[in-house]
Amino acid sequence: MPTLDWLDRQAAFSTANKTATHVLRPHAAGHVFGDAAAARDNLLIQGDNLQALKALLPFYRGQVKCIFIDPPYNTKSAFEHYDDNLEHSQWLSMMLPRLQVLRDLLREDGSIWVTIDDNEGHYLKVMMDEVFGRKRFIATIVWQSRYSRSSDTAISISHNFIHCYAQNPDNWKLTRNRLQRTSAQEKQFSNPDNDPRGPWRAIPWDAPNIRANLSYPIITAKGSVRHPPPGRCWSRTEPQWLDMVSNGKAYFGKNGDGAPSFKQYLDDAPPIVPNTWWSHDEAGHTDESKKEIQALFGTDSTFGTPKPERLLQRIIHIATNPGDLVLDSFLGSGTTAAVAHKMGRRWIGIEMGEHATTHCTPRLQKVIDGEQGGISAAVGWQGGGGFQLLQLGAPLFDEQGDIHPEVRFADLAAFIWMRETGTALPVQAASGPLPLLGVHEGTAYYLLFNGILGDRRPASGNVLTTAVLQALNELCGHDGPKVIYGEACRLGDARLKAEGISFKQLPHAVPR
Ligand SMILES: C[S@@+](CC[C@H](N)C(=O)[O-])C[C@H]1O[C@@H](n2cnc3c(N)ncnc32)[C@H](O)[C@@H]1O
Repeated sequence: MPTLDWLDRQAAFSTANKTATHVLRPHAAGHVFGDAAAARDNLLIQGDNLQALKALLPFYRGQVKCIFIDPPYNTKSAFEHYDDNLEHSQWLSMMLPRLQVLRDLLREDGSIWVTIDDNEGHYLKVMMDEVFGRKRFIATIVWQSRYSRSSDTAISISHNFIHCYAQNPDNWKLTRNRLQRTSAQEKQFSNPDNDPRGPWRAIPWDAPNIRANLSYPIITAKGSVRHPPPGRCWSRTEPQWLDMVSNGKAYFGKNGDGAPSFKQYLDDAPPIVPNTWWSHDEAGHTDESKKEIQALFGTDSTFGTPKPERLLQRIIHIATNPGDLVLDSFLGSGTTAAVAHKMGRRWIGIEMGEHATTHCTPRLQKVIDGEQGGISAAVGWQGGGGFQLLQLGAPLFDEQGDIHPEVRFADLAAFIWMRETGTALPVQAASGPLPLLGVHEGTAYYLLFNGILGDRRPASGNVLTTAVLQALNELCGHDGPKVIYGEACRLGDARLKAEGISFKQLPHAVPR
């Protein structure tokens, strides 16, 4: 397959693997905002997104329904809150490992949407083809981000691109949501004959597919006989047409003698299939997003490159349902998180700049308090929910390969589970209180660490002894092979074999 080449491409391919997995810990500026129970679902993380994405992987691998990112476009500008001026190859080397980890976080029925412009958009498309696979490409949407024209350019740029890929495109076509009609689109329906069933529009009965049972004579209201036009057939069978006739839905034009069609009523019309042209009146524009930010933070404390809430509403509506998880790893002023929250989705946002705490945190606190800007009125937002503010902590393993003292049971449990099974161990499952992490393909995985059995002395609860094995069997036994991670093992080989145990010593036996 043809691929994109650039300086350091080879090195960029190993960056994600080489990036250490860090723990996530409560932020120094505050931890839980809003309702504590609801806050378990939503995470705002301050830090570099490659490290943060790696930290999320053990808990969220394959769990994210919709990823939206709006990375720096490499416009060579220095914005107030971040620099957008990487050398071309560096930008590509920055994006590649992040896309690789994002791909691993996507759910089987998930999709990723990336906004970009002419500076890097075409290079990004080729890179995404390689990372996600060309067969997963859905479409590049053209969003009319700007409606005014700039007079100091040769050709004024009116749009951004949005590249969209889905993990499983055939399935996604059936499960993604359609869009509600706008009032302009509803105007295609009218009621010239005062039909009591309301406004309707005529849909032609003919179609391109040629099949024997789709070619039959139709009698018009005036009594003429109609056959399908040359090279075409009717769209449905004769019994289906006769149903239309008996329900009063058959239509032959104003004179009653034209080509057969049927009345599709506005009330019965399905929502519409999204297309690749997103005009500013449907999906918002950059003037609108600037005003949204000014309404939130005042004119002195703005953020230069926000996206409008309506753009995110449209993407999140198409790609998710309430309760699904949305991720944005270039969060900026927090638009994706704010919109996901108002739409009843769970969310994770990552931002490395100080605006994680000066903009995203207060914005999301306002959302919880019932902020009424952006899409609030459209979705009936009244406030509620919560989120956790986190930052990156230590790497799981220090330079000597030892487990860092900051590492908690859940951190190591999820990491080991992911390395052993290739799947995520969600936070609740990773948090104990028992040492059994789970059973995968018939094998049970146990972790003896940080005194999970209630005894913090290294020589006891973290060591596999006869007493500990007895406790494991009583508390969370498994009738089949077992893998047990611990600091040491006092059982002999014969006993381990008889019990079906494969013992792995911490920290060195943990696959990195
Ligand atoms: C174009 S802005 C996103 C704007 C956002 N969509 C909004 O509506 O406000 C890009 C953001 O990505 C952040 N960013 C850039 N590189 C990053 C990295 N390596 N890790 C985390 N955030 C990063 C920048 O600080 C900036 O806030």
